[in-house]
Amino acid sequence: MCGIVAYIGQQEAYPILIEGLKRLEYRGYDSAGVALLNENNELNVYKAKGKVSDLEAFASSKDVSGHIGIAHTRWATHGEPNQVNAHPHVSQSGNIALIHNGIIENYLSIRKELEKRGFTFKSSTDTEVLTNLIEDVQQSEHVDLFEAVRIALNHVVGAYAIVVLEKGHPDQLIAARKGSPMVIGIGDGEYFIASDATPIVGRTQKVVYLEDEQVVKIKLGEELHIKTIQDVEAMPYVQELKMNLDSIEKAGFDHFMMKEIYEQPTIVRDTMRGRLNPEANTVRLGGIQQYEKQLLYADNIVFVACGTSWHACLVGSYLIENLAKIPVKVEYASEFRYRNPVITPHDVVIAVSQSGETADTLAAIQLAKEKGAVVLGICNVIGSSISRATDAGIYTHAGPEIGVASTKAFTSQVTVMVMLALRLAELKGSMKDEERAAFIQELDRIPEKMQWTLDHSGHVKDIAEKYKDVRNMLYLGRLQNYPVALEGALKLKEISYIHAEGYPAAEMKHGPIALIDKDMPVVFIATNHSTYEKVISNIQEVKARNGKIIAIISQKDVLARKMADYVIEIPETECLYSPLLALAYHIAVMRGCNVDQPRNLAKSVTVE
Ligand code: G6P
Repeated sequence: MCGIVAYIGQQEAYPILIEGLKRLEYRGYDSAGVALLNENNELNVYKAKGKVSDLEAFASSKDVSGHIGIAHTRWATHGEPNQVNAHPHVSQSGNIALIHNGIIENYLSIRKELEKRGFTFKSSTDTEVLTNLIEDVQQSEHVDLFEAVRIALNHVVGAYAIVVLEKGHPDQLIAARKGSPMVIGIGDGEYFIASDATPIVGRTQKVVYLEDEQVVKIKLGEELHIKTIQDVEAMPYVQELKMNLDSIEKAGFDHFMMKEIYEQPTIVRDTMRGRLNPEANTVRLGGIQQYEKQLLYADNIVFVACGTSWHACLVGSYLIENLAKIPVKVEYASEFRYRNPVITPHDVVIAVSQSGETADTLAAIQLAKEKGAVVLGICNVIGSSISRATDAGIYTHAGPEIGVASTKAFTSQVTVMVMLALRLAELKGSMKDEERAAFIQELDRIPEKMQWTLDHSGHVKDIAEKYKDVRNMLYLGRLQNYPVALEGALKLKEISYIHAEGYPAAEMKHGPIALIDKDMPVVFIATNHSTYEKVISNIQEVKARNGKIIAIISQKDVLARKMADYVIEIPETECLYSPLLALAYHIAVMRGCNVDQPRNLAKSVTVE
């Protein structure tokens, strides 16, 4: 959580920092702050509770000049979200200002030590403790800031991406990371530092991703000077940034979420590009090619993930077991890491993550490696911690997802799951050639069918209008539609704050049926061919209890159409996710909720 951005160069820093913070606001948005060093060597620090726009309003009549600055948007971990706890934090002498994303786990013991040495603290944050620790090292060891940061970080347990600014040094920033992401953009006589590449897009294409436990001196007129915290010199590896500005702007939509819903047909194409070959009826997944044998002969493929990514894993498990006949387990990363799971070198663990930064998923990867398993990744963010921590992987190529509630990222993950299942089925010979070919042809047609679904989903808004004030909603589906039901329910609760549950349709009678009355809308995903009749029986059971039925049906459907209060049609295929997204979206908008930044959530959960 938390977004950090920093600038040093010839331009005015403040506008660059504010724009950068706005692009990073998906990472946290309960308070924000900025520190600038002006031409008179005055350190101006402004902080505000709330969003970046609140910070802008607060700083509007203040001195925001300076060519060097650091800024932060926060998702509180230590101390309530208020002005005092907001970053940047300033050291006791007033010389150092610091921004931090992560958690310093041993901050209480360090704080006690520093208090004994005469330091006092204004906030209840771990970050202020780190700031004063660096100052203490600098003063007691008589070293420069670069060295003080390096030494201090050796005393720290936890995760951090930090940038430090020092009075009297208008040409230098010090940064470091461990467990939290950081990217440095190298411009012409200027540097940009940020939690991810979005604040850098459009400013420079040359970037360096800092590695764990590296500290960097960023000084104007000099090359980046990188060391590990163990004092080993490291060479910066400069890469080209491939993102463009269009991909991080709203493009005429009211919200990023809607833009991202509409991007699904394109991103499915992007995810399949160069991998799916409908002429030859083959799938090639270059990133994991050298691990195909291990996958094929694995005792188990074990998926680990959190949130929406976990739902994509569940879809993957249905597909891989069904098509490739390889046993699959699906684990919540947060449980997996602590429950001492049985994993052997004959298992292949696949970590799935949009951001590539989720702390629990990273810890699960670490554990799987310790147990000797091959660990692969399915990630969206190139160069992210998870993509680097895994042995190999498949990028989902969904582009930046800004809306906090995941949408197109899920679609791209499911696309990868289908391709993975088909590739493994091909290698295993578990599907007839013509059956696999038909599947591949159908996959190739999905983007068109998705577009059709989006073009014909206008009336979802009317359904949303009808049910926007309900308190509960149930989502039911079978087979791979069950994870989609879970995901539909998750979307509704995330962005509209209506309580919603997803269930396998047949489980309804083991509990949720007790909730059904005239005020309870039930969304049925009624498209599976093999279990269609059974879902129809479930619809009847709800109808008999006066429940309201919204059914996602295939175009040719007759039975469900007759029984449902509302239907949403999709083409004869499985692209049924979009209507559920649209339903959640419209309800949230009608309820006046902040769709892109729902309360209490963060896009990238870099804490346990
Ligand atoms: C957070 C986000 C979810 C996301 C989950 C896992 O909770 O709000 O949208 O599904 O983290 O994130 P990952 O980046 O690992 O897929």
